Amino acid sequence: MEDRPIKVLVIMGSARKANTYRAAERIREILQENAAVDWEYVMLKDVNLEQCRGCYTCFDRGEEYCPIKDDAALLEQKMHDADGVIFATPVYAFQVSGLMKVFIDRHAYICHRPRFFRQKALLLTSAGAVGSKEVLEYLNAVARIWGFEVAARAGIVSHAKMGPLPAYRIQENEEKLQAAAKAFLAALRRGTRARPGLFDVMAFHIGRAPCDELGESAPADHAYWKEQGWLEKGRRYYVDVPVSPVYHALGTVAEWYLRRRIRRDLREVG
Ligand SMILES: Cc1cc2nc3c(=O)[nH]c(=O)nc-3n(C[C@H](O)[C@H](O)[C@H](O)COP(=O)(O)O)c2cc1C
Repeated sequence: MEDRPIKVLVIMGSARKANTYRAAERIREILQENAAVDWEYVMLKDVNLEQCRGCYTCFDRGEEYCPIKDDAALLEQKMHDADGVIFATPVYAFQVSGLMKVFIDRHAYICHRPRFFRQKALLLTSAGAVGSKEVLEYLNAVARIWGFEVAARAGIVSHAKMGPLPAYRIQENEEKLQAAAKAFLAALRRGTRARPGLFDVMAFHIGRAPCDELGESAPADHAYWKEQGWLEKGRRYYVDVPVSPVYHALGTVAEWYLRRRIRRDLREVG
């Protein structure tokens, strides 16, 4: 990385400056004790994001044709400008908060046309008791499908309305935040892309089958994948990094199977 502060963007899915925010602030402290870090919050409660209307225009034609004129494009640009993005949300009814879900839905086209290959992600949740694991898994899937290298995750426990936390819980939370901040910083300092895991390689092959087979009936996806060179035969991943031969073989088989199914379905419907 050049000689400039590391740029970290926090997408904050809590409407309050409370448990999740305090956990993010602790990560900020740890990072800033160890490196020059430029820190920015996007408080989702303060931005203008409408609910997705489900019109499919972004998938079919491109996100620039979305009929909703809100801050979605601005937030995408902020993620592009960052070196690291922290996706932070409280657990609400075993899932991400509504604010975070609207943010993800408004950028769902990125699942079809991934783009954040330079950026590292840290996933952060706070929960009264249960649901952190599932929420972190969900955020992990979304961030990796969008192209991020997920460098760290932390699910802290807050006692919601049950009063102060016992000392051992405070200690556990602190250890989780320390470990996540350190792993995140190590990835940010390394800068280069880590080898993709099985999930990432599978996402590439499983995404490639429909983009190629559906061709002009999914014009925005097809054009994007073609332009990136991702439809070329023998391509192993979105970016040029070493890919495990075993993951490549598994991905190739999954892609072959999916292509066959798509062709069969297309024949069936004539
Ligand atoms: C609407 C709502 C739903 C919640 N659902 C859960 C839940 O499913 N599991 C859980 O452990 N805690 C749940 N909680 C507790 C919060 O996850 C927890 O208090 C969290 O730390 C709040 O974060 P905040 O202080 O940043 O808003 C819920 C809280 C609210 C307000």
